[in-house]
Amino acid sequence: MTLLAEREPVAATRPPVLPVDEVPAPRALPAPLLRIAGVSLEYRTPERVVRAAHRIDLDVHEADRFVLLGPSGCGKSTLLKAVAGFIAPVEGTITLAGAPVRGPGPDRIVVFQEFDQLPPWKTVVENVAFPLRVARGFGRREALERARATIDKVGLSAFATSYPHQLSGGMKQRVAIARALAMQPRVLLMDEPFAALDALTRRRMQEELLALWDESRPTLLFVTHSIEEALVVGNRIAVLSPHPGRVRAEVNAHEFDLSSLGSRAFQAAVQRLHARLFEPAAEAPR
Ligand SMILES: Nc1ncnc2c1ncn2[C@@H]1O[C@H](COP(=O)(O)OP(=O)(O)OP(=O)(O)O)[C@@H](O)[C@H]1O
Ligand SMILES: [Mg+2]
Repeated sequence: MTLLAEREPVAATRPPVLPVDEVPAPRALPAPLLRIAGVSLEYRTPERVVRAAHRIDLDVHEADRFVLLGPSGCGKSTLLKAVAGFIAPVEGTITLAGAPVRGPGPDRIVVFQEFDQLPPWKTVVENVAFPLRVARGFGRREALERARATIDKVGLSAFATSYPHQLSGGMKQRVAIARALAMQPRVLLMDEPFAALDALTRRRMQEELLALWDESRPTLLFVTHSIEEALVVGNRIAVLSPHPGRVRAEVNAHEFDLSSLGSRAFQAAVQRLHARLFEPAAEAPR
């Protein structure tokens, strides 16, 4: 009822008859879950100031699999850290569900590339349960239950009582993903989570991530410098320029998944993204 009432004035302002080839204005999208508006990020060292990202504008919507694609050093990790609340922008704003991001919080969890992101003295189930207790305030029993359920989802039930050093790199990344998913963050931030894996495991992890996404539709902000990975994992891709990172283009990638690899359409999309990534800098350096 409310929605209809809200839409009425919009409909009333539309011209009564549209030309045949004109597409009606799309219904307004809901407000983005995560809005990055005019954000510049810098590192200050005693000798100099390094601008890592320059005036970035991005809107990430609920259940997006939003990919940041760009060359090494273009500021992808820095942008992710800013969304996580570890770094404050020198200009611009980052808002999550309308509220400015002012620091880290359990509504934004990061999965890193490194395999050593799990405390080695905790078992798999303890690793997943610990942040649930500390950051989400669950009691021991409920935290363990939730942890076990999520570990099951990533296929590691048989290793719940193993320690990280007893797991392969891919398994450790599954634990890191389970730990993040169990927290049910508003946005799951993933910084090249599969980059250190061998090609086969990487492929399998991409597949598993998509299956997990299908199940609970978390909002992902996923960093990679692999064009193929961006197309497979993402539904939207922001192409960033080399250092300092600026948004060069935003591309839809809904139609691709792992089954598209090698298809003509996929190869054409790879070529287009490749051209955008490697085109000579049109942007003036700051
Ligand atoms: N702690 C720091 N102090 C000073 N400069 C930094 C720091 N961390 C990163 N930088 C610089 O900021 C820029 C962006 O770095 P960032 O790590 O965000 O790049 P990236 O796109 O994630 O690269 P990669 O793909 O290699 O991970 C780089 O020029 C880097 O040298
Ligand atoms: Mg990085």
